Amino acid sequence: MMEYNNHFEKALDFINTYQELIDCHLVDFIIDELWDKCLPEKLKLELESIDMSDDIWTEDDAGPELSSLVQLTRSLSLESCPAVVRTDDLPKLLPRYFGEEQSNKFLCPKSELMNSKKSYEIEALGRILAEMALSTRSLVIDAGAGKAYLSTYLSEHFDIPVLAVDSSQVCHKGAIDRQEKIQKTKQSLEKVRYVVYELDDMTNYNKMVNANYPSWILKRNLILTGLHTCGMLVHSVIKAFLRTKDMNLLFVVPCCYHLANESLSGRLNFSKNARMLAQQSVERSKRDKRLSPSLFYRAVLQVVLHSMGHYNAKVGRGGPLNNFPDYAKWALSKIRVDNKMIPPAGVLQKIYQNHLHLEPKFRLFQMLRIYTSSVIEAAITLDKIIFLQNNTQCSKVAVVRLFDPTLSPRCYAIIATK
Ligand SMILES: C[S@@+](CC[C@H](N)C(=O)[O-])C[C@H]1O[C@@H](n2cnc3c(N)ncnc32)[C@H](O)[C@@H]1O
Repeated sequence: MMEYNNHFEKALDFINTYQELIDCHLVDFIIDELWDKCLPEKLKLELESIDMSDDIWTEDDAGPELSSLVQLTRSLSLESCPAVVRTDDLPKLLPRYFGEEQSNKFLCPKSELMNSKKSYEIEALGRILAEMALSTRSLVIDAGAGKAYLSTYLSEHFDIPVLAVDSSQVCHKGAIDRQEKIQKTKQSLEKVRYVVYELDDMTNYNKMVNANYPSWILKRNLILTGLHTCGMLVHSVIKAFLRTKDMNLLFVVPCCYHLANESLSGRLNFSKNARMLAQQSVERSKRDKRLSPSLFYRAVLQVVLHSMGHYNAKVGRGGPLNNFPDYAKWALSKIRVDNKMIPPAGVLQKIYQNHLHLEPKFRLFQMLRIYTSSVIEAAITLDKIIFLQNNTQCSKVAVVRLFDPTLSPRCYAIIATK
């Protein structure tokens, strides 16, 4: 569909224009003077003239430069892409996969033994997959099944055969333990078969189905799915779908964009920082209002680290957040700085005080970056869509908005049929 192509091109143009803001690393905000380096002059001047102590997510008082940037990011997010499909419209897009009496009449049983976020996701995705699998009499392959929440939901409530594949032994054990717990109260879940296997571009799914379901006759009756299919796994899954004749439907929800450095369309060349930024969620940030204090502490720590000659220190998450000296001491010990070399609390506090006036700018800067995250996410998602669209085997290709992003930020699914 042209709409996806247009949206993709516009998102790429935007990312190109704001490349410095997108590619930078927030820890370098002070040390590399990112405020001056990465923001367009007019926007910078406008932001410097407002009261930065206000709620940074309220746009009511935003000036013209900020308003137009926010509007632009919104118009380039998937939320505003006219070709993105709502779940209610799936039966119109794919009538073969839904019975006549479908949609709200189709029961949505409760999922069990999982947290409320997972339960919400499993019920939303499970209901759609169940309809599709039942109407086409398909076997479902759950790629990167984790503890196999989705697999057991489909099997237990809809009696659908599922092959749950995950590379992790730990997840496999978790899935088996969970199955045993369910089996104590319910009849058996014979229909899920678990495989510990690292899927890649060359995986032979037909062979895997034959080995685990010897009586299953392959005749274009496989659905390939994955909930929060991370990094490169989603690329392997997409390629497998195109390669495997017996797969009729692909329905995956990608996540962990930072772990995939390959572009399927060949059009993206995003830095790790850009891909990390795509992991942010505008909706969640707006809801939570404040940034974690550790972010500014980390930026001030970078000043301390550079002054001590540590230019590439990997501090990681965690640490006390009650005051900067405690945080800095924790971080310096973590990167194995000799105790005797760690500056005293008074000195650390002084450094912090000297930079505290930059904090409002720092928060605004990160807010701007978070706004751009929805455009990067759009480009990363559409990269896969363009690749699928360009393949002549695909009959329908679409992005589906599956979840409420405040409940589940990685809320977009990719669907393709042959
Ligand atoms: C984000 S988790 C999602 C788990 C599950 N689908 C869920 O929603 O609860 C991603 C899972 O994919 C698995 N995984 C990652 N790469 C894989 C690969 N190449 N082959 C098989 N499993 C993989 C990981 O072990 C992990 O369990």
